[in-house]
Amino acid sequence: MSNDMQTIGSNPVGLKGRFAGIIMNLIHTNQYKKIIQRHIIDKIDTTNHLSILDVGCGGGKVISLFFSMLEKSKIYGIDHSVDMVNLSSRVNKAGISDGTVNIVHGNVNKLPYSDDFFDIITAFDTINFWNDFDNSIIEIKRVLKQNGIFLIANGYPKEGTKWWNFVKFKNDNEYRAVLSNHGFKKINIMIEKDTIIILTNK
Ligand SMILES: C[S@@+](CC[C@H](N)C(=O)[O-])C[C@H]1O[C@@H](n2cnc3c(N)ncnc32)[C@H](O)[C@@H]1O
Repeated sequence: MSNDMQTIGSNPVGLKGRFAGIIMNLIHTNQYKKIIQRHIIDKIDTTNHLSILDVGCGGGKVISLFFSMLEKSKIYGIDHSVDMVNLSSRVNKAGISDGTVNIVHGNVNKLPYSDDFFDIITAFDTINFWNDFDNSIIEIKRVLKQNGIFLIANGYPKEGTKWWNFVKFKNDNEYRAVLSNHGFKKINIMIEKDTIIILTNK
């Protein structure tokens, strides 16, 4: 990954950042839809009222997918880039106006929600960019309900590539170690092509 792409990915702002947000939404739609369907929707009772949070929500694609797949849930998003909060809000205009979607500006290391609030938290292509990983994971665990689901989806590049140098955790053992050190249970890791998907419970 070039330094320029790392900078844009970590905090997409300005013209380049907004453009990156739109592109991310376009290129991720099909893949994210399949991940959400297979690893979340197929495994839960969708007739329940659920609270879902997408951290590092970028252009808001994950929020809009949950909005289209679930009827009774409330979906929240947070991002530390004001430009991404604005883009996400535009993309999710319908959900915001009917009160189903709530998107705020903030850092994942200080989440503005009460303890044990969410049934599901997702982090798509964002954890590599966090400036304060440990406090971010502590915060996610704090706001997740007991037995709530935490899903991470990340690039899983080949060893020796630039992307491999950039990613925080190099393999499933490293993900497993950090999550179990933070007290997460039932850590289930799947590698699908060049993406790693981690499902775990509080
Ligand atoms: C590569 S983009 C991915 C966006 C979106 N999740 C997606 O997959 O399309 C990474 C996002 O994480 C956000 N981000 C990075 N560090 C963050 C932090 N500490 N707190 C909140 N958002 C953060 C960035 O602003 C950016 O929108």
